[in-house]
Amino acid sequence: MTYLANPARYETMEYRRCGKSGIKLSAVSLGLWHNFGGVDVMENYRAIVRLAFDSGITHFDLANNYGPPPGSAEENFGILLKKDFAAHRDEMIISSKAGYTMWQGPYGDWGSKKYLVASLDQSLKRMGLDYVDIFYHHRPDPETPLEETMSVLDLLVRQGKALYVGLSNYSAEDTAKASKILKELGTPCLIHQPKYSMFVRWIEEGLLDVLEQEGIGCIPFSPLAQGLLTNKYLGGVPDGSRASKAHGFLKKEMITPEVLLKIQALNQLALAREQTLAQMALAWVLKDKRITTVLIGASRPEQLSDSLLCLKNTSFSSEELGKINEILRD
Ligand SMILES: NC(=O)c1ccc[n+]([C@@H]2O[C@H](COP(=O)([O-])OP(=O)(O)OC[C@H]3O[C@@H](n4cnc5c(N)ncnc54)[C@H](OP(=O)(O)O)[C@@H]3O)[C@@H](O)[C@H]2O)c1
Repeated sequence: MTYLANPARYETMEYRRCGKSGIKLSAVSLGLWHNFGGVDVMENYRAIVRLAFDSGITHFDLANNYGPPPGSAEENFGILLKKDFAAHRDEMIISSKAGYTMWQGPYGDWGSKKYLVASLDQSLKRMGLDYVDIFYHHRPDPETPLEETMSVLDLLVRQGKALYVGLSNYSAEDTAKASKILKELGTPCLIHQPKYSMFVRWIEEGLLDVLEQEGIGCIPFSPLAQGLLTNKYLGGVPDGSRASKAHGFLKKEMITPEVLLKIQALNQLALAREQTLAQMALAWVLKDKRITTVLIGASRPEQLSDSLLCLKNTSFSSEELGKINEILRD
């Protein structure tokens, strides 16, 4: 069926400024890591992307290796762009990344100029785009000089293949060094993409301070801890869930009795706040004004609808925050 975008799509979403840049991002962004690959069903992920856009989500996050197989999420997203969103490209912030293994041999991984230039060219072809809005270095490379990797990011912006650049999985210290180099080159870092959720809190120990000082936005990934911070696993591992899939990055072994106890206690607290656990987990990330947007995944449109309601209440009393810290304490 021909897609007609919801005319009211910008009325309920919140938009937050990304660091000290000119860009605002929807407070919720959609990631295409799982559920959009060659192994997935197009009518399902098409419905998710349509719902996202209809709900005011402007930011769609991809990477060269998303699938499986690697590259297929970008190919599939390219098909959706052509079929449904051709008239809406300028309303979208589309990102891609390179940094993990993409092809065989010494030039298909990490952070060299050779790899990053070739990878972005491949991503653009797969998505049928002239440029991405944000291009990230996906993970720090301990062997390639930081100057080389940062100068490629600058080059790709100058070539018009990316509008902005970002860093992902960089430590606070490496982010500060990279940001300095990028500023000297004239292409300031727009955004940092770290793993952050109630279960993974390393960015509170320094990275968020660096981002604030440098004027860089923050887009935490896996804010639901891949589904752990929802009510999904309270009664075991349901069929079709990420933990049940061979290619899923969430392994059954990660759902230990200790983790389950925490999820149960958090779920009670969420119910007392009249939120689902997913909504509370996202609201908890968004309560910090240094966070630009939460980068969520979804395997069904209903999950996205549920998660979006987190925006109805993103404030926490100090008593609630204390209780959450108590539950999360080891
Ligand atoms: N930069 C990096 O290194 C990096 C790494 C990882 C991810 N990312 C980015 O971050 C994005 C999000 O990561 P993620 O998928 O791990 O995020 P997530 O939001 O923590 O987890 C998404 C999963 O949680 C479950 N879920 C979502 N909403 C739910 C709801 N309302 N109720 C119940 N279950 C719900 C679904 O699991 P089921 O599939 O089991 O239904 C869904 O697939 C990725 O797509 C990618 O763009 C970046």
